[in-house]
Amino acid sequence: MARVAALLGASLLFGVANAHLAAFHKGMYCLNGPQSAQDLNSYSIVTPLYQLDLNQWWFHHVDRCDQFPPADGDFLDLPAGGQFTVEIASNRAKTTLSYNGRDASDWPDGNTYPEDYNVPTCITSPNFHAQNQSMAAGTAFAISYESDISKVTPDNLAVFTVRYHTPWKRVTTYDVPANMPPCPPGGCICAWGWVPNGCGQPNIYHMPYRCRVTGSKSNTPVAKPKPPVWCEGNPGGCTKGAKQMIYWNQNSGNNIQVSGYDQAGEFKSPAYNSKLGFPDGAQNDIFAGPPSSSSSGGTSTGNSGNTNTGNTNTGSTNTNTNNQNNGSNSNNNNNAGNGNNASAPKPSSIAPPAASIAVHVNLNPPASRSSSSAAPAATDSNATTISTSSTSATNNRAPSCKRQRRRRGPILDAEDPATQEEQDEVPAALNKVVAVTHRRRFAKTW
Ligand SMILES: *[C@@H]1O[C@H](CO)[C@@H](O)[C@H](O)[C@H]1NC(C)=O
Ligand SMILES: *[C@@H]1O[C@H](CO)[C@@H](O)[C@H](O)[C@H]1NC(C)=O
Ligand SMILES: *[C@@H]1O[C@H](CO)[C@@H](O)[C@H](O)[C@H]1NC(C)=O
Ligand SMILES: *[C@@H]1O[C@H](CO)[C@@H](O)[C@H](O)[C@H]1NC(C)=O
Repeated sequence: MARVAALLGASLLFGVANAHLAAFHKGMYCLNGPQSAQDLNSYSIVTPLYQLDLNQWWFHHVDRCDQFPPADGDFLDLPAGGQFTVEIASNRAKTTLSYNGRDASDWPDGNTYPEDYNVPTCITSPNFHAQNQSMAAGTAFAISYESDISKVTPDNLAVFTVRYHTPWKRVTTYDVPANMPPCPPGGCICAWGWVPNGCGQPNIYHMPYRCRVTGSKSNTPVAKPKPPVWCEGNPGGCTKGAKQMIYWNQNSGNNIQVSGYDQAGEFKSPAYNSKLGFPDGAQNDIFAGPPSSSSSGGTSTGNSGNTNTGNTNTGSTNTNTNNQNNGSNSNNNNNAGNGNNASAPKPSSIAPPAASIAVHVNLNPPASRSSSSAAPAATDSNATTISTSSTSATNNRAPSCKRQRRRRGPILDAEDPATQEEQDEVPAALNKVVAVTHRRRFAKTW
């Protein structure tokens, strides 16, 4: 702890680091951060979610982002059978939503990089949690046919579009299924999700928007979504039809658990891609039945004669309730490690890069959690010296953390503080400090 404090002290010199990414659009909640006053440099929403209770991580309630809806009339419009575009960025300032795009570039952080940007030890600026574009995990949008955000639950929020190999460039386009039914008069609630695949903390992103379908041609509702399951190499085993978003590595509310290794020999990390049965593009199999013609041809919000609140439908069998993990019963230990029991990784054989601090310092752990935190795992000294986290010696940390440690270098969450230029570089020796800063920042912020 003393060491952490010392590092933290030193790290303050570098300012706040927070180069994570989120999908910006005027229809988003938290456009100005968790406040009503305009903030052209907001970036609260880019903070990832990890080991939080359901009521905290759901729609980023942890910092009250879900309490700050977009301005009246601002929606993310989803043209049935068409596309929509958002700006994936590390800060609102790096999008066209601020300063007329003055600080925006083709990339999420306002800087410029080679088209074939590739860093075998992981790209950290922007914080793609990937080595290159082909390794980017994939991102998704989901929709709930509820207008009131408080009524949105995993059971009525279905993934309707996925974009493989994102996040990558700032401007990102998603496809809308042609048969999307219209939203109720008050619009729908959408969500953006991203679950990185290694290269850092195995967290998730879950942020809300007000959205509405335009040009609907069908009134058939979206079926009740079921949790996705790991089905790499076994398409027949994938969850068919409407799927929930990926809820992983939280203290409660998880809907997927994985263990072991993927086909590439890395620790499994669920993501919005084929490994969970999500095809790239529009998810055209999410409806409760065949398309039914709409009386209206659908304008935007309007025609909702049909109250189909998506959930009603489908009889869907299912929902399997879940699965194995509902997180709630697991203490955060096995949560992070979810399926992997101690026998899995061989940490000692994994040489952690000096600066690779995959260990998570718990953000504001609930009091109860501290009791479960045992001594840091003895296997990797450097990483664990900083760990005050609850991940204990008796269980493994999240698989992707290990993976990440094995395959990459510094987890440098270098950042672009607001509108300022991104730090050009951080001396290698300071990488660790910066990484710690990042963790500590969480601790302070959350
Ligand atoms: C992307 O990164 C992965 C992992 O380091 C590597 O195997 C692959 O060759 C890279 N692809 C390109 C195009 O650089
Ligand atoms: C999670 O598990 C707990 C205890 O096993 C149970 O009470 C709760 O209803 C479950 N929640 C969900 C969403 O399945
Ligand atoms: C740990 O994982 C190994 C290999 O997957 C399995 O054989 C063993 O039963 C697991 N142990 C526990 C306690 O889950
Ligand atoms: C820990 O890091 C220091 C400095 O980076 C390095 O000299 C030392 O060998 C590392 N120890 C282990 C066990 O990796």
